Amino acid sequence: MDSRRLSIKGIEVPNFVYGTAWKEDETERLTRLALEAGFRGIDTANQRRHYHEAGVGAAIAAAIADGLVRRGDLFLQTKFTSLGGQDQRLPYDAAADDATQVRQSFASSLEHLKIEQIDSYVLHGPSRRFGLAPSDLAVWGAMEEIHAAGKARFLGVSNVGLDQLDLLCTQASTPPAFVQNRCFAATGWDRDIRAFCRERGIVYQGFSLLTANLRELNQPAFARLVKRVGRTPAQVVFRFAQQAGMQPLTGTTDPAHMREDLAIYDFELSAEDVRLLEGIAGA
Ligand SMILES: NC(=O)c1ccc[n+]([C@@H]2O[C@H](COP(=O)([O-])OP(=O)(O)OC[C@H]3O[C@@H](n4cnc5c(N)ncnc54)[C@H](OP(=O)(O)O)[C@@H]3O)[C@@H](O)[C@H]2O)c1
Repeated sequence: MDSRRLSIKGIEVPNFVYGTAWKEDETERLTRLALEAGFRGIDTANQRRHYHEAGVGAAIAAAIADGLVRRGDLFLQTKFTSLGGQDQRLPYDAAADDATQVRQSFASSLEHLKIEQIDSYVLHGPSRRFGLAPSDLAVWGAMEEIHAAGKARFLGVSNVGLDQLDLLCTQASTPPAFVQNRCFAATGWDRDIRAFCRERGIVYQGFSLLTANLRELNQPAFARLVKRVGRTPAQVVFRFAQQAGMQPLTGTTDPAHMREDLAIYDFELSAEDVRLLEGIAGA
């Protein structure tokens, strides 16, 4: 298999994803630049507070129309965000029940993205910090119906703790295929959840790999490794993430960084370097 792809349930998906949060009016332009740079995985959400999903859709439609990419080459992921994570710009009726909200949000995502099927449909996060509320399970049930109808190839969940992921996997008839979490080196890069995912064939997507780990990435041990490998710190982190089994996200707004982030397939970290980075918080 191409080292830029990873396989999930026999289907190949890109092993690096471009994230579109916080780009506001620049969303369309930056998504286009990311596609031009070579990203084929795109992450967004139907949550106007942090994302502009319609801007992502406009960039994708134009890129398909002018032959830059084909729909089949893309991995398009979006999210359902419950009321607690939204501002007043809701993609559903606030008074509707959970399942109706999911159906409305999903229909609006298809419109924004101008596509017929989502590759990965993600629950943005459970509504409580520990455990799952009945409404979380109702939301998941509605997502499962979308999946069963063939409108979403995979389901995913974000911002979850191990107990919540375990509960979801036990209670769901369709367990998540993706987990998307902020990845802190201080927790061994979400060690327990990654191990759980590995056992179950779930793909772990890590975000904030650079920004959540400033202290660890300032360690002399990290600087020494970067110098020895001869790559940029970001390249080392993203390559490490892939070699440790993650599908990393980057949301860079800089075209030079986009190219830099994708230029990591011509080097590999040694098993020893991967081990060192796994434990960098204690270095
Ligand atoms: N599920 C959730 O709740 C959730 C939450 C947060 C994020 N996400 C997803 O994850 C995506 C990525 O977000 P993130 O939190 O990882 O942060 P990010 O938006 O990618 O920010 C990375 C920061 O590092 C800087 N940077 C410097 N060198 C870089 C390099 N070579 N490559 C990349 N960045 C570099 C960037 O600046 P430049 O722009 O100047 O490069 C930027 O300030 C989001 O767009 C979103 O799709 C999901």
